[in-house]
Amino acid sequence: MQIRGTDYTALTWQGDALALGFFENATEISGDLAQLDDRLEGVLRELIEEKEFKGKAGQKLVARVGSKTPVKKLILVGLGEIEKFNSQVLADGAAAIARLAKTEKVKTLGISLPQREHDPAATAAILTEGILLALHQDNRFKSDPEDKEIKLTTVELLGLGEQATAISKAEKIVSGVILAREMVAAPANEVTPLTFTTIATELAQTYGLELEVLGQSECEALGMGAFLGVAKASDLPPQFIHLTYRPANPTKKLAIVGKSLTFDSGGLNIKGAGSGIETMKMDMGGGGATLGAAKAIAQLKPNVEVHFICAATENMISGKAMHPGDILTASNGKTIEVNNTDAEGRLTLADALVFAEKLGVEAIVDLATLTGACIVALGDDIGGLWSPNQELADQLKTAADKAGEKFWQMPMEAKYFEGLKSPIADMKNTGPRAGGSITAALFLQQFIKETPWAHLDIAGPVWTDKQNGVHNAGATGYPVRTLVQWVLGLVE
Ligand code: BES
Ligand code: MN
Ligand code: ZN
Repeated sequence: MQIRGTDYTALTWQGDALALGFFENATEISGDLAQLDDRLEGVLRELIEEKEFKGKAGQKLVARVGSKTPVKKLILVGLGEIEKFNSQVLADGAAAIARLAKTEKVKTLGISLPQREHDPAATAAILTEGILLALHQDNRFKSDPEDKEIKLTTVELLGLGEQATAISKAEKIVSGVILAREMVAAPANEVTPLTFTTIATELAQTYGLELEVLGQSECEALGMGAFLGVAKASDLPPQFIHLTYRPANPTKKLAIVGKSLTFDSGGLNIKGAGSGIETMKMDMGGGGATLGAAKAIAQLKPNVEVHFICAATENMISGKAMHPGDILTASNGKTIEVNNTDAEGRLTLADALVFAEKLGVEAIVDLATLTGACIVALGDDIGGLWSPNQELADQLKTAADKAGEKFWQMPMEAKYFEGLKSPIADMKNTGPRAGGSITAALFLQQFIKETPWAHLDIAGPVWTDKQNGVHNAGATGYPVRTLVQWVLGLVE
């Protein structure tokens, strides 16, 4: 399937299906559309009236208009209130159109949607991402998939001019989002810590990245007692992955650190009935997105050095498991009383953050399916963002907005660290239930000395049950797009 921009408009384009977007209560037909309506013998106006199409967000309809007409089918999608128009609305509109085109077996599709900030390149990029991500179908684990092939061969983005650069850039970003989605969607018997090494090795070979993988003994030598404490009960060897994209003369040096628990049983504080333990394959979502971002950035080649770090292991139970109450020593010398083995992500991240800071980078961002408390606070669709550095927080908010992903800044409330005080060690790994996503961020902060750092809790948005109905439910690839936009935004 090919996506391209064109100077053709809704009026002049010819093909199987023409898709039009309308803002809420703005469905009167005028200008070009009135001329198009004349060519279609008034079908457009009739359809809008007959189906009471008001342009509400999520509203959509398809109708066949003829066989000798310049377009055979019309697809109309509602974009909601014009005041609320943003990248996400535009991407959602493109996604809805792509899905309809697929079910309608359309071969050539023309899409006419309003531009984002009068910027045809940005608009083409958002549309491309929306279309490709909506059409991505994961059939790896089906012996006889229902929808084998997509009929769509050509998608033309109307009125935007050629936009080859913007579209190819978006395709690279999408390849990273899809890698993250497929890693998250694959179960824990398919994606293990060793799979992280395999995927990182493939990325390194394909895109010329540097790769360093530390095994058990190398992590021991670095004193990574927190990470290794979590890894103790797994029969699979822990893998500490450090992948580097290094341009010749970088203007910046950054690190991205992803929580990479390929399964989280809770450990001896085992997750009980109704805890969603069967969904805990997704607990490597941060690491999946880290490798997804690496894949995109390695192709986009910005002039920024980026270190991608995944401390990959499983949180399991066995006679070798860490006990609740054990005291672990992290690689910065700090001691942690593990009062709950299910707060394992922060233990693995502790050593990964210390490692990242030693690289001498200018900023560190970690991303983690860290707490159920963050889902309680922000719901399934919004990630939490914490940073003691407002400049970095603002960069990430701008990036998320551009990417069409949602983050909400949460407080680094220093006083809550009292909840993590331990009578016997430097700190506990778990505080009180209230404010649980905040104490998690405060815990991580203990492993950063001075480098600007931000923490993204993606426990909610890494997964969706309702996205587009049954198809495409599952892994979202959050927050690959935000990370890529962040890195690109630093050199634009
Ligand atoms: N991986 C979980 C967090 C999580 C929960 C992710 C639901 C996605 C969906 C994390 O390791 C965890 O178990 N956190 C505990 C922390 C608690 C023991 C302080 C939690 O959120 O309950
Ligand atoms: Mn856990
Ligand atoms: Zn976890």
